[in-house]
Amino acid sequence: MTKTGKLFGVGVGPGDPELLTMKAVRVIKTADVIFTAASSKNAYSLAVEIAAPYISTDVPVNILSFPMTKDVRTVENAWVENARIIADTLKKGLNAAFLTLGDPMTYSTFGYILKKMNCVMPGAKIETIPGITSFHAASARLNRILVEGEESLLVTSGAFGGDRIRNVDGVENVAIVKAYKNIKDINQALKDAGLYNKSVAVAKCGRDREEIIHDICELENREPDYWTLILASK
Ligand SMILES: C[S@@+](CC[C@H](N)C(=O)[O-])C[C@H]1O[C@@H](n2cnc3c(N)ncnc32)[C@H](O)[C@@H]1O
Repeated sequence: MTKTGKLFGVGVGPGDPELLTMKAVRVIKTADVIFTAASSKNAYSLAVEIAAPYISTDVPVNILSFPMTKDVRTVENAWVENARIIADTLKKGLNAAFLTLGDPMTYSTFGYILKKMNCVMPGAKIETIPGITSFHAASARLNRILVEGEESLLVTSGAFGGDRIRNVDGVENVAIVKAYKNIKDINQALKDAGLYNKSVAVAKCGRDREEIIHDICELENREPDYWTLILASK
């Protein structure tokens, strides 16, 4: 009987190819197959581009597509299908590295894969290699303390605007990822929560055309880049 392979969920960090862990690099270099996910509208994978210096030329790179739709059943089916493709690879005794931006456990497509692997291949060997998140990279880029002493940090999504920020109490610092739409509402919520004055946005941190936007009001006059986050503090 063939020994099954192992799935590694690998965080490739926020963009700088030097911001991968040594473990991530070793796993990528030794994987038999590379997987990543991309929207069905666009087969391009930034995660693969970041990890490219470490991917052997003879290793297959398999970009799994997922639909950009709110139809839950369509999305669920796509992830089950993607997990099956990975499971088939493991059943051949091959080791697979699923590359994901930043950290695999933080707003990542690897989360879907993990859940679906439990359905399609219960007991599969899986190891997650953590990565540097976008907001840790941004705070380092700015030499700005993310959280200290007994303070709290709220990490949240801005995709639906500022409600998550308005409704919290006792939080001194926030990191808002997906701050690319509803920016007016995010800004208003930061003002309401007393977090606006010490806010800064970072777009494409550590990548070409990186931007640091100290006056986040500016974001209201343009369509912010998808790769935009905001750090704010009391
Ligand atoms: C789906 S989440 C992925 C988060 C990622 N797993 C992490 O650990 O940071 C995508 C959001 O992360 C943020 N992001 C990821 N990389 C970034 C970068 N290099 N610069 C700024 N924001 C980034 C943006 O807010 C983007 O909308």
